Amino acid sequence: MAILEIKNVVKTFNGITALDKVNFEIKEGEFFGLLGPNGAGKSTIMNCIVGYLKPDEGKILLEGNDIGNLDLSYRMNIGYVPQEIALYQELSALQNLKIFGGFYNISKNKLNERILSVLKLVQLEDRKNDVVKNFSGGMKRRLNLAVSILHDPKIILCDEPTVGVDPQSRNAIFEMLNELNNYGKTIVYTTHYMEEAERLCSRLAIIDYGKIIAEGSLGDLLSLLEKRETIKIRKAIESEMLVGSLKNLGVLTETDFYYELIPKSKYEMNSQIFSELEKFKLPSHLLELSRASLEDVFLTLTGRRLRD
Ligand SMILES: Nc1ncnc2c1ncn2[C@@H]1O[C@H](COP(=O)(O)OP(=O)(O)O)[C@@H](O)[C@H]1O
Ligand SMILES: [Mg+2]
Repeated sequence: MAILEIKNVVKTFNGITALDKVNFEIKEGEFFGLLGPNGAGKSTIMNCIVGYLKPDEGKILLEGNDIGNLDLSYRMNIGYVPQEIALYQELSALQNLKIFGGFYNISKNKLNERILSVLKLVQLEDRKNDVVKNFSGGMKRRLNLAVSILHDPKIILCDEPTVGVDPQSRNAIFEMLNELNNYGKTIVYTTHYMEEAERLCSRLAIIDYGKIIAEGSLGDLLSLLEKRETIKIRKAIESEMLVGSLKNLGVLTETDFYYELIPKSKYEMNSQIFSELEKFKLPSHLLELSRASLEDVFLTLTGRRLRD
């Protein structure tokens, strides 16, 4: 069942269209990714979901109800981890948790329980009395996540949580979000890193210039591509003997330095290709397999690279 439905949402800022008839849905319990380059409209969607921005057109449904008609208390269902760190830098982690926790209508006992539980989740128990300004970027991110889920929301919106974070904290953030997802929380994760979307998300939407250009599982999105894998064979004496027999197994193209075989779908990376490679004893350093990625999907759909 869809827990969130974004329906024909349009949002403009001074005549600039940030969201252009955006449609997608997020199912309960999924780890949903919103992938797109800077300026694509990811944060604007997040802000619309959480109600900080109001769409010009269209609507957002939470469990079938238009959030425009709901009492603001609907936000208790949502934990929003903003792109910009929002913490009191001069205060300790614990003081921050108490202040942010005070915004929710939670009893003091329950709040203290929740504070302990989120500190444990984000692995900051032993640093809880330290002042935030002394934290690393990754620790601040983790605390930002902790304050955002004190009210135990069922949906967690994370807006580019790994920007400016060291690799170790990045992995810790992935683990935490996976753990929350395993508890049954619905995660909505924005990123401009396709590797993160591939690694984390069970389903995703790709956004570009305020438009959703594709939506589905990684497999669905990769199937938009004509080819899933290619084989590159560097030109050398050994490879010349091989190419004649590879021709029949797919489309063979040639550049100055290598041959590229796009296997016919029925021969896609199958044993027949490998047995040819073996038969001709092709040294492995001449061979390169490349797997299609979301980067290729983005490139195919937009003509641009996501990295740029
Ligand atoms: N408050 C705002 N005022 C004016 N323009 C905005 C505002 N917020 C976002 N935009 C514009 O809307 C577009 C989408 O921005 P944003 O949602 O922040 O993208 P992303 O999060 O994908 O990087 C950009 O062109 C951005 O400049
Ligand atoms: Mg953003």
